[in-house]
Amino acid sequence: MAPEVATESDGRAADEIGGVPGPREVALTKKTKLHGRAFYESIGSPKYIVAPMVDQSEYVCVSFLGFCWDLALVANSWGVSQAWRMLSRSFLPASQRSTILAYTPMFHARLFADTQRYRETHFQPTTEPMPEKPPFPVTPFLDGSPADRPLFVQFCANDPDALLAAARYVAPYCDAVDLNLGCPQGIARKGHYGAFLQEDQALIYRLISTLHAELEVPVTAKIRILHTREATLAYARNVLSAGASILTVHGRLREQKGHLTGLADWDTIRWLREQLPKETVMFANGNILEYDDLAKCKAATGVDGVMSAEGNLSNPGIFAEPPAPEEEARAYWRGRDGKGGWRVDEVFRRYLDIVYRCVQRDPPVRRKLFLPGDDEAWLETKAELPSSMASEPPWKKKKEELPKEFEELIRSPNVTAMQAHLFHLLRHFVTKHTDVRDALARVRAGDLPTYEIILSMVEYKVARGLIDYERTDGASIAEYLTVGPVPDGIDESESSIPALRRCKRPWWVVQPIIRPLPKEAMAKGAIQESKKKKKQKAKAAKEEGNQGETTQNGFGKEEAPEQLLPSPSPNKKRALEPEVVV
Ligand SMILES: Cc1cc2nc3c(=O)[nH]c(=O)nc-3n(C[C@H](O)[C@H](O)[C@H](O)COP(=O)(O)O)c2cc1C
Repeated sequence: MAPEVATESDGRAADEIGGVPGPREVALTKKTKLHGRAFYESIGSPKYIVAPMVDQSEYVCVSFLGFCWDLALVANSWGVSQAWRMLSRSFLPASQRSTILAYTPMFHARLFADTQRYRETHFQPTTEPMPEKPPFPVTPFLDGSPADRPLFVQFCANDPDALLAAARYVAPYCDAVDLNLGCPQGIARKGHYGAFLQEDQALIYRLISTLHAELEVPVTAKIRILHTREATLAYARNVLSAGASILTVHGRLREQKGHLTGLADWDTIRWLREQLPKETVMFANGNILEYDDLAKCKAATGVDGVMSAEGNLSNPGIFAEPPAPEEEARAYWRGRDGKGGWRVDEVFRRYLDIVYRCVQRDPPVRRKLFLPGDDEAWLETKAELPSSMASEPPWKKKKEELPKEFEELIRSPNVTAMQAHLFHLLRHFVTKHTDVRDALARVRAGDLPTYEIILSMVEYKVARGLIDYERTDGASIAEYLTVGPVPDGIDESESSIPALRRCKRPWWVVQPIIRPLPKEAMAKGAIQESKKKKKQKAKAAKEEGNQGETTQNGFGKEEAPEQLLPSPSPNKKRALEPEVVV
């Protein structure tokens, strides 16, 4: 890829930074439905994929409230919005943006099919309210606009008719509809969807084949691996024979979540790739922390495209090749050790600008991104929240009136997603600057003026950080960048420390969140051995007359990783590159 990298958000045309240039009339042309590789090639053979991501909490609410799900739908819902997808694409030159395919967050098929309000608050292809029934408007410019393609809309479902009804609403505005077969959360178990359909291969077949036969756009599916390669292969074959055009394989088991997430198994994905017919289009998912991991994953697995979820949330520029040192502009910072990354202030303001355009407003004119040596006069006024707001506890925010002009925004998925996206983006930044964390916790959906103030706070702190870095010849950040040793008794390959050493950057640069691997979490007491495992150990110890050596810890909720993780394959070490945790 040419290092023709998108740079600062200031002073550039909306199109250049992936913004929405405003309403445009784009008649939807009815295309012939393609399948498999022909379909994949028709959408530009995307190599990079923004994963489907939804905030699970909204579904928890829906399930528990059951009868009054309406209430749940207004609660804290977010997902990868159009603005975020556009932001992720914006780091590539316009000519290369179709190499990024994006998924919507998972929508609940039955709710989507049955409830206009749910549809309106989750997927907005037009500014006009969507009619209850077809024909749908053919002039989209929001979700699924030409600048938001290729786009797959994802559903969870367990009823083919509900899935088809939901899919029909979105089909005019997307390239394919994806079936979520990977959600491992308790709510998916209760609702019988996501990874909890694994045991019901006949239902999976019916869900996919119904869309394959009836829907005007192709169907795809995202699965997790099973406990054996042979079982995973049979699963993949079922999904493909039902009519899925693309198979995404998340290389983790259903049990690999929370502290047990651990590493994805690229070896199994490679093995699947080799067993399945050559023309099968496959995406790999798992273990992507930074840009270089994308190529490593592709080489290790042989897939067509690589999907990133958490890596993309932490760094929406993850799919763009970092600029060469001589081509770096203000947006990309590089330290004296040669390591660099996109600056948080640049990514934050670029995201805000795209949100403004997605909600049909003009972003403010911005000064050039600061570099040491620039005029520092603006740094004399420190940006802060208004004292009334700063002194109030975060939950009071809802009681305040939003200025009228912003009120209407609160039903846009683009603005409801902002707070969660910014917390991910600024995760490292806010651990250092807790006042920004507190400000972000207080801001209400739709309150763009307060987001502007928070951006100013971030810009101010980044400028100070950069000035200090230059003044001290890099020493100001040395302690922050120090990474401890691999804990005693844990092999490097089972530790997140090597990944931390590789990826850690100053807090003014966007970077991945790296969590302890299961053995480290266990050593720290974050997870404990299961009751069953403890009993087995106690029994074994008793038999050996050695009972005193069993652990005295209380029983944990989660099972011990040894019981759950797939046994290491001969190639495990290679497959575990990069040393990722998510
Ligand atoms: C916040 C969050 C929300 C997610 N929501 C979805 C979802 O709606 N549908 C889905 O198929 N997977 C979902 N996932 C799983 C991711 O798509 C992905 O499979 C998983 O995080 C592994 O990829 P990663 O290692 O790049 O993070 C979600 C993951 C995260 C972190």
